[in-house]
Amino acid sequence: MLRWWKRLPILYKVLSGNAVVIIIGAIGGTYITQQLVQASVAGLILFFASVGIVLSLLINYFILRTALRSIDVLQQTVERIDRGDTTVRANIDEIDDPQFHHFAKSLNTMLGRLATHTHMIEANRAQLHLLSRQVLSAQEDERKRIARELHDDTSGSLARILLNIEMCSTLVPKQYHEIHDKLDATCTLGEQTLENVRKMVFDLRPALLDDLGLAAAIRWYAKNNLESLGIQLQFEMASGLRGAPMVETALFRIAQEAITNIVRHADAQHVNIQLSHSPTVWKLTIQDDGRGFDLKSMLDESAANYHWGLFGMRERAELLSGTFTIESTIGNGTRLLVEIPVEQMP
Ligand SMILES: Nc1ncnc2c1ncn2[C@@H]1O[C@H](COP(=O)(O)OP(=O)(O)OP(=O)(O)O)[C@@H](O)[C@H]1O
Ligand SMILES: [Mg+2]
Repeated sequence: MLRWWKRLPILYKVLSGNAVVIIIGAIGGTYITQQLVQASVAGLILFFASVGIVLSLLINYFILRTALRSIDVLQQTVERIDRGDTTVRANIDEIDDPQFHHFAKSLNTMLGRLATHTHMIEANRAQLHLLSRQVLSAQEDERKRIARELHDDTSGSLARILLNIEMCSTLVPKQYHEIHDKLDATCTLGEQTLENVRKMVFDLRPALLDDLGLAAAIRWYAKNNLESLGIQLQFEMASGLRGAPMVETALFRIAQEAITNIVRHADAQHVNIQLSHSPTVWKLTIQDDGRGFDLKSMLDESAANYHWGLFGMRERAELLSGTFTIESTIGNGTRLLVEIPVEQMP
């Protein structure tokens, strides 16, 4: 009987409870009136009203307590979901009310689906993360290979061609001015080409990065690209720090893109580069006083307009569990901050 009562929807519980109060009031009232006809009418009214109120309060209290227990169970479940625990499920055994029981079952089904989807998304994200790392690592290996070939093969051949031209020049008698002019022009062109190849080799894989470390490589790259534009450079970098090759490469590539952006877009007068390294984190800050830009609209449009630089910088930092923050104000320059943990997951 109690089970049947508990399983009644709350509406019927309240209705039947109040019906019981009225029935008890009607029967009990009539009986008591018959027994006590001599008592004063005012006394009877007061007596019935008090008994009716107390009974009604007790019954409604009991009904609402039962109904609220189901709501309590649901509320506790929802609060745990709010706190981020998606493994929680509503305990349907504790919910007797059929409407709330049904609601809790639907909630549990939805949570089950959410858990499956979250699991899938996490698995895909981990796979994407791994793939991106492999792509970047393959890209670095390929850059190294091309840089080595350009250095050992192309640069070496160009240097030998230049030597041969110089030797030819010494063999040609001085009165053949036209031939000398042509040989000199070819030499100049050859030297320029050799210089360009060296620059390409450095851009592809700065030997300095492997030999002298990150600070030296960033300093060299910034000086080479920014000083010729009349930009004043300020460095705050502790030299001699060495990190995991993966971290050094990522930070160097980020600095490279940031410097390229300053050359292409900033129109800056001063650039400040800071590199520091605590026991737990590498920090790179690059700040310019150039024209700045509207960050929000740029991030919205970047992918659509094939601006991959900012996106790539963030990607590189996040792949190593780091963060990338950029602040820019129109007319007030741009500042980017990259933080990458020293310890890397295998
Ligand atoms: N230091 C900066 N100063 C001013 N504007 C900048 C700076 N860095 C980036 N920007 C703005 O942000 C935009 C996006 O930069 P991002 O590096 O993503 O793309 P991009 O340099 O245009 O192209 P790429 O994909 O070749 O890097 C730039 O087009 C430029 O308008
Ligand atoms: Mg760019």
